[in-house]
Amino acid sequence: MADSQSTNDLRPDLDETINVSEAHGAIKDSSPAVGREKSVRENGMEAVSLWLILVSGIVVLVGGAVLGQGGSFFGYDELTKTDHVRGKSPVEEETIIPPISVLALLQKEGQKLYSACASCHQASGAGQSGVYPPLAGSEWVTGNTEQLAMIIHNGVGGPIKVAGVDYNNNMGAIGANFGPKELASIMTFIRTSWGNDASLVTPEMAENALAISKKRGGKPTTAEELQKNHDKMLPGDTLDPDTLFDPETWEPVPAAE
Ligand code: HEC
Repeated sequence: MADSQSTNDLRPDLDETINVSEAHGAIKDSSPAVGREKSVRENGMEAVSLWLILVSGIVVLVGGAVLGQGGSFFGYDELTKTDHVRGKSPVEEETIIPPISVLALLQKEGQKLYSACASCHQASGAGQSGVYPPLAGSEWVTGNTEQLAMIIHNGVGGPIKVAGVDYNNNMGAIGANFGPKELASIMTFIRTSWGNDASLVTPEMAENALAISKKRGGKPTTAEELQKNHDKMLPGDTLDPDTLFDPETWEPVPAAE
């Protein structure tokens, strides 16, 4: 600005050439303002209390001595117990298994049990031509559940037509020792594998199947008997395949909100 010089002239205390100490020195010593200002030394040279210097010195000395002793003040010896074995955490012990859908649970268990069937019916469920009938595409598998349960629990023999092909062979009571969970699992697995698309079998239905099977006596069944007495669905409530189950307890768990 053009009038900057004149502005400075009006405010001489902003002029850099003025030494504040000198300017204050020129003021009469008796002035109370001078008394206050005198205690301020050159810029940045304010007096530090002697006490503060002494106390700081003591702190440094004591601190150095403590650290020099190997830091026993800061040692953890008091806090750590030797020979202490950490106990097992209760949370670690019970591994939390996330719930899965009842369909997935039955299929998973059924797949394991299927190893007892695969030697004859093959991993692909296709069976072996003329000897072992297929489970893939078999109406005995995807049809009414009571007849399927009777086959697995008691075995089957004699003439049987499977997917339009005649067989006349024998199958032992492979599932004679299956409980309700196992029977439900193997049935669900073969009813929902290799393109088979039938309903799942609940453990409750399988339990009813075991009761029905017990009544008939235990010898292997025949296609004729199955069609006459067991061509129906097992009693028992159906379950939504998406119902969440605890894989440990096989109990339904409430779905998370
Ligand atoms: C030792 C060989 C063998 C094993 C192991 C075996 N089966 Fe069979 N299965 C047969 C034979 C043979 C037949 C046909 C019997 C007949 O001709 O009457 C058959 C028939 C069947 C049928 C009815 C016909 C069809 O193909 O749909 C089903 C269902 C069946 N088996 C399921 C199973 C299941 C499930 C298992 C395992 C838990 C199993 N089988 C284990 C040999 C076997």
